[in-house]
Amino acid sequence: MTIGVIGVGYVGLPLVVAFAEAGDHVVAVDLDTQKVSALTAGESYIEDVPSERLRAVLPHVRASTRYADLAQADAILICVPTPLSENREPDLGALNASARALAQVLQPGQLVVLESTTYPGTTRERLVPLLEESGLRLGEDLNVAFSPERVDPGRTDFTLRTTPKVVGGMTPACLERATELYARVCDHIIPVSSPEAAELTKLLENIFRSVNIALVNELAMLAERMGIDIWEVVDAAATKPYGFMRFEPGPGMGGHCLPVDPFYLTWRAREFHMSTEFIELAGKINQQMPYHCVERIEQALNDATKPVKGSRILILGASYKGGVGDTRESPALRIMEVLRGRGGLVAYHDDFVPALPELGLESVPLDDAVADADAVVLVTAHPGIDYVSVAARTALFVDLRGVTRGANVENLVRL
Ligand SMILES: NC(=O)c1ccc[n+]([C@@H]2O[C@H](COP(=O)([O-])OP(=O)(O)OC[C@H]3O[C@@H](n4cnc5c(N)ncnc54)[C@H](O)[C@@H]3O)[C@@H](O)[C@H]2O)c1
Repeated sequence: MTIGVIGVGYVGLPLVVAFAEAGDHVVAVDLDTQKVSALTAGESYIEDVPSERLRAVLPHVRASTRYADLAQADAILICVPTPLSENREPDLGALNASARALAQVLQPGQLVVLESTTYPGTTRERLVPLLEESGLRLGEDLNVAFSPERVDPGRTDFTLRTTPKVVGGMTPACLERATELYARVCDHIIPVSSPEAAELTKLLENIFRSVNIALVNELAMLAERMGIDIWEVVDAAATKPYGFMRFEPGPGMGGHCLPVDPFYLTWRAREFHMSTEFIELAGKINQQMPYHCVERIEQALNDATKPVKGSRILILGASYKGGVGDTRESPALRIMEVLRGRGGLVAYHDDFVPALPELGLESVPLDDAVADADAVVLVTAHPGIDYVSVAARTALFVDLRGVTRGANVENLVRL
């Protein structure tokens, strides 16, 4: 088969490699010429896809900026971004643009699957009408389905192949074709009755995480006032063999998914005269966490008789999660901005994020910066760093991730 993938970022690139490894030819289309050049040269820009793995399948992959190259594909997967606009409403600009461009080159018999996270109804009400501008008709000479991507960047225990794939087709034939397609690269396919069910499945998964993270964050703030160690409580609760699922407190949510996706549903719900209060409340608490963490840092410095203003504060970890370099919506950025706004002299160390142009900062070497800092704040813990030994070398260490729990280190403050 020939598979087309539109948008080859965190979601699209692993799909490109998976289908190429399954022996298919893949046409990878992206507007970003840097990504297209890197792909053509066999250089991966996604941590989860090593360049060696990409190079091994390169003869099966053609990267391009031209939608016309998709005309030869049997199936086309759309993996473009679905962010929020400035006033926090769904921004389907990339999806609209890609569907319109695809309609120009669509061929009879092609299957189109949307993978981007979005609100229920997008496939039916947005994507299909745009694709039908090609003159092709759904169910006659065009098949369309929705299948949400479940990739969790940095995770190694589950892969694209071993993570069950949910698929909803516009018609039974659409579902059948999409199921056959994904069976080439996934061991378990979960068919659902409609694209809407598949769209909402993805949102439920992310909202579930967002709400539970907010719950444990709220308890972390309360536990702090009560003088109880939240990490000890989470560890103890997690020993219950049933009915409890572990979620960790932290400096707030980041990435393209959790801070964004739930609000796609909130927006859509308004059309149905519903306000999704769990989602709003979880968003409110999680958005507040970076500010709460700044208060914690300020208080820790105050206890050491230092004001934020003029203090050298080293942030460890700028990406939104450990093991990846993705800084989208990262709480570390907000914490740095607020500390700077209060006059702190902020530097950061992150081997995954060499520079933060928006803050005019570059990652500084860990050892020198630790020695110089008035406070070192662990915002995102990357694998391979012994944070307890780092903490032992600091004047003041603020741990927002609980990785130092159990350690006997002076001048240590935990969320
Ligand atoms: N990153 C994740 O962990 C993750 C997980 C599950 C689902 N998702 C969802 O998958 C979708 C893509 O996310 P991502 O993280 O891969 O984004 P990304 O920014 O890493 O990649 C998207 C790519 O699409 C390209 N693009 C934008 N407009 C285009 C157009 N009109 N034509 C062709 N290419 C275009 C961009 O240049 C970019 O390379 C989003 O809806 C996201 O919510 C992401």
